[in-house]
Amino acid sequence: MPKDRALALRVNGRTVEVEIPPHRTLLEALRDTGFVDVKRGCEKGDCGACAVLIDGVAVDACLTLAWTVEGRDIVTAAGLGTHENMHPLQKTFVEKGAIQCGYCTPGLIVAAQSLISMTPNPSEEDIRVGLSGNLCRCTGYAKVFEAVREAAAEVRNQRSRR
Ligand code: FES
Ligand code: FES
Repeated sequence: MPKDRALALRVNGRTVEVEIPPHRTLLEALRDTGFVDVKRGCEKGDCGACAVLIDGVAVDACLTLAWTVEGRDIVTAAGLGTHENMHPLQKTFVEKGAIQCGYCTPGLIVAAQSLISMTPNPSEEDIRVGLSGNLCRCTGYAKVFEAVREAAAEVRNQRSRR
């Protein structure tokens, strides 16, 4: 049986200690340490529910071994903003009604953040491609795409005001 190792993961700006063997995934490590906004879906890279940002890029946590991301900057959907200071994506998903059961929402927000950080003014096609790794059984995606478009515009506005 492979042995546990103590890891210090950097998640949402803080250091999280976890004891985990080499075959366990980042998804397991995050959920075991209370980051339950990272959702457990298919656990084989199909649904995107488990997506987190690693150094700013969306990655499926279920396909990532926890040992491989020690020292990297990991951000979950909840880590993008606070109740008092919500990220534009967190706001527009609520305002546009892009959430129904909500299970896919953290992964969609993470994928959208990855997209708009690289493509600040995404076309409809960019948004569709950027979110193509995230499955939602409830919303039909139209409200999701609208929320991402509006959040991207808000991020551009915020940048231009700085
Ligand atoms: S749980 Fe990771 S892609 Fe589905
Ligand atoms: S809102 Fe239910 S799966 Fe997307």
